[in-house]
Amino acid sequence: MFKALLISGENEDPQITELSEEQLPKSNVLVKIEYSTLNYKDCLAILHGKPVIRNYPMITGIDFCGTVVRSSSVDFEPGTEVIMTGFGMGEKFWGGHAELASVDASFLVTVPTGFSMKNTMQCGTAGLTASFAVLKLMDFGLEPKSGKIIVTGSSGGVGAISILLLKKLGFDVVAATTKKENFKFLQNLGVRDIIETSVLNSSKLLDKQQWIGGIDTLGSKALAGICACTSAGGAVVACGNAQGMDFPTSVAPFILRGITVFGLDSVYRTVTEREKAWALLADCLSDYDLNMISSEHQFKDILNLAKQLFENKVTGRLILKMRED
Ligand SMILES: NC(=O)c1ccc[n+]([C@@H]2O[C@H](COP(=O)([O-])OP(=O)(O)OC[C@H]3O[C@@H](n4cnc5c(N)ncnc54)[C@H](OP(=O)(O)O)[C@@H]3O)[C@@H](O)[C@H]2O)c1
Repeated sequence: MFKALLISGENEDPQITELSEEQLPKSNVLVKIEYSTLNYKDCLAILHGKPVIRNYPMITGIDFCGTVVRSSSVDFEPGTEVIMTGFGMGEKFWGGHAELASVDASFLVTVPTGFSMKNTMQCGTAGLTASFAVLKLMDFGLEPKSGKIIVTGSSGGVGAISILLLKKLGFDVVAATTKKENFKFLQNLGVRDIIETSVLNSSKLLDKQQWIGGIDTLGSKALAGICACTSAGGAVVACGNAQGMDFPTSVAPFILRGITVFGLDSVYRTVTEREKAWALLADCLSDYDLNMISSEHQFKDILNLAKQLFENKVTGRLILKMRED
């Protein structure tokens, strides 16, 4: 038997339930989960079900790491430490808020050299997304001497890890946050240039040029504000919608300053792309960095933690220890 956070139907409350291994789907790799996390998307699934959950019953949890117990895949032997992110886990397929998972080998990558299993979930899907965003800006041609990079939602997972990566790579960062009480947290990450998100929300459609690049986790007026203040030839990566799905801007930043907006999806990425992004995280981030931006919690507290995160009462990443030592 193993424990899992199960939502049994559309109008049912999520509950930590005991299930038997036979109830798991029959995929080719069985993983004993050590750590999972709570992402914004998990909170949506736990508290509201749809639109995240596509079918029921569902075990939530869009990411996890653990050890392979059984495998019919040549790529993963028993004992291998693996990471699972994306591919509809916790949405279409039973996810990581459980002590065991049965998954398709093509969804897994091995834990990168230099990282522990805990480190991988201190980053989680948020860190992987941050890494993809930073790589996208660098592939576009931005480098530290190009100018400043703005990051929004900076006390959240994607934001804080984007900041850590950019700082390690030598970039000058502007952090935008909704709350003044996050300033100290951001200063501890090494950011000196901090603004309130409300400043972005009230930008004109074309405003003073302030940064050459951006990583946006909010969407809506914040993304419009970032574009309005991006210097000519710059680029912005849009990766989230914590403020809203809309994008109330004009063509002015595109036709008058030639800026580029890239969309980012971390869910369906090749093994090679995921390995490259994990390698960047493992190369750049230490235990010290990751302990600054995350806190470890017990699986049994998941429902209360989900409410806090959804109400924007959490700073940094919430890591779930799925098994008691
Ligand atoms: N594209 C992808 O593949 C992908 C992958 C992962 C996540 N995402 C998306 O990226 C976003 C951030 O994810 P995350 O895991 O970093 O979430 P998170 O840890 O909950 O952080 C979100 C941050 O956004 C800010 N925020 C929250 N609610 C807000 C609101 N109503 N208005 C303005 N700011 C608000 C807060 O930071 P401050 O108070 O510091 O501003 C909060 O810490 C989410 O929309 C998520 O769905 C996308």
